[in-house]
Amino acid sequence: MTVIDTPDVTINSAAATGEPTTGNSEVLAWVTKIAELTQPEYIHWCDGSQSEWSALTEELVAAGTLTPLNKNLRPGSFLARSHPADVARVEDRTFICTEHQADAGPTNNWSEPAAMLETLTPLFRGSMRGRTMYVVPFSMGPVGGPISQLGIQITDSPYAVLNMRIMTRMGQDAMDHITPDTEWVRTVHSVGMPLVNDAGESIDDVEWPCNDTKYICQFPDTLEVWSFGSGYGGNALLSKKCFALRIASVMARKDGWLAEHMLLIKLTSPAGKDYHVAAAFPSACGKTNLAMLRPTVPGWNVETIGDDIAWLRPGPDGTLRAINPEAGFFGVAPGTGYSTNPVAMDSIWGNTIFTNVALTDEGDVWWEGMTETPPAHAIDWEGNEWTPDSGRLAAHPNSRFTVPITQCPTVAQEWSESEGVPLDAILFGGRRATNVPLVTESLSWEHGVFIGATVSSEKTAAQEGTVGELRRDPFGMLPFCGYNMADYWSHWLEMGESLGDKAPRIFQVNWFRKGDDGRFLWPGFGDNSRVLEWIVRRVEGEAEGQEIAVGRIPAAGELNVEGIEIPAQDMTELFDVNPQSWLAECDLTDEYFAQFGDRVPAALSEQLTGLRSRLSAM
Ligand code: PEP
Ligand code: NA
Ligand code: MN
Repeated sequence: MTVIDTPDVTINSAAATGEPTTGNSEVLAWVTKIAELTQPEYIHWCDGSQSEWSALTEELVAAGTLTPLNKNLRPGSFLARSHPADVARVEDRTFICTEHQADAGPTNNWSEPAAMLETLTPLFRGSMRGRTMYVVPFSMGPVGGPISQLGIQITDSPYAVLNMRIMTRMGQDAMDHITPDTEWVRTVHSVGMPLVNDAGESIDDVEWPCNDTKYICQFPDTLEVWSFGSGYGGNALLSKKCFALRIASVMARKDGWLAEHMLLIKLTSPAGKDYHVAAAFPSACGKTNLAMLRPTVPGWNVETIGDDIAWLRPGPDGTLRAINPEAGFFGVAPGTGYSTNPVAMDSIWGNTIFTNVALTDEGDVWWEGMTETPPAHAIDWEGNEWTPDSGRLAAHPNSRFTVPITQCPTVAQEWSESEGVPLDAILFGGRRATNVPLVTESLSWEHGVFIGATVSSEKTAAQEGTVGELRRDPFGMLPFCGYNMADYWSHWLEMGESLGDKAPRIFQVNWFRKGDDGRFLWPGFGDNSRVLEWIVRRVEGEAEGQEIAVGRIPAAGELNVEGIEIPAQDMTELFDVNPQSWLAECDLTDEYFAQFGDRVPAALSEQLTGLRSRLSAM
């Protein structure tokens, strides 16, 4: 029994503990409560220092969890290999815990909070036995900023601690801002593999501890997250999807702002004027690539502010201000190479944690798509010998790099501006082989919200004039909205009303339209800057556009395609709207909306009616 005396409170804990880094009695009482439940051997209060980083990485190298990479090729970097069954977010084990099921909505797994705590308590009881419990204070957004929020993660995973130090403003400054009158989010994480069993016998640790039983639970009413059984990114770095999207979306609704699954970029025109654009896409639709785009249009510049999450809040001047609440990238490695995303490649030169990629004989990393020619030999993500003809992937398809945003060569200086940047445009996109034009401006904020609410990707390319099976992912938020999705649409509509003429314009983009022969019609990547250029010209009133049934598309000749070869036929197909096929899609939208019953805002039903009548008049 250790007793810690602090100026404010005396806490009793079964665990030995380092010096608490706060006198905040609420924090001390909470840490004590979690320690009494999980029974760690030691409590480590994280300060975020370089020496703490060094000590933790050394410890994990000694334990075999991290492999240091060749210092000459990838300085300060490490490889982690997860358990082969702990490689991705587990959406079917993710719960929104609210009193009423309708508040979680039909698209979330739901549990009543008390019932979930009854399930979780025996799982967490003693779950940290024999391990160190880390207390990790962090700020989402610049510490103390007007759009920022504070949190503490308790975790028994030193791998999570290291990743949190890259992904957030983690450390003493954040802790010092957690005062008795600040709101802060309590998050608890255990990999669920105690090192002492119920009989008191010790158990050998493994390189990647985790548990077959997994729960990722959000409690929006009490601003809590409880995560059990996984060490993987989105399940274990609770600042990210759990807090900055699921919990924050609920905080945002209450307080008149938006927590979104959006990248954030700054565009500079040849005239030297700055614009800021946020864009929501479902996972695996190229958000990181767009965030790090190198424009092919001469004179334009794109700088990176965020690649995954944006918090949007009306500023004192009435414009919508945006910050990236994170401080690093947790990017998908496969497919990232100098030909697809040179900026990402140049970001990860060092100080990077790689997870589930391959290890080369030189002590560097490799994954499919990193180089055209694979290494002749490597150790694959599961730790086995690998050669190009082994018939297996060298890297897991969801392998990742964790890197500080400050290493991004295109990072905008505004990335850490606490007031946020004023937003000029919001983009919504999915992966659509059919129907959806390359770019369409919404006809109004309500129409833009309708576009966001109906975002979808196609599973397979359809015949011309039909629609493939659609996977709906409204606002790219399907796995991340912490409350009823239809209420979330209402909140977006209300935000538009209060922003009035200061609201950013809303556009739909689709880089993935295919021709009858299955070919992509648009080159994508750096040439997406051509679409951004048209969007800016619309914002400036320099391009007229052409209004069609589904919105406003570039008028003939308005899209700058100088320097690329796009056959006239392909240009036509890129913007083609087939009324029959679109009307069929409207029927699917009706079916999709039906699951939300009368919570679907009337403005969205009216948008669907309006779209149908415009299509019928074609
Ligand atoms: C994650 O899985 O942790 C994650 C960041 O998800 P995604 O890349 O799908 O947004
Ligand atoms: Na705050
Ligand atoms: Mn994401």
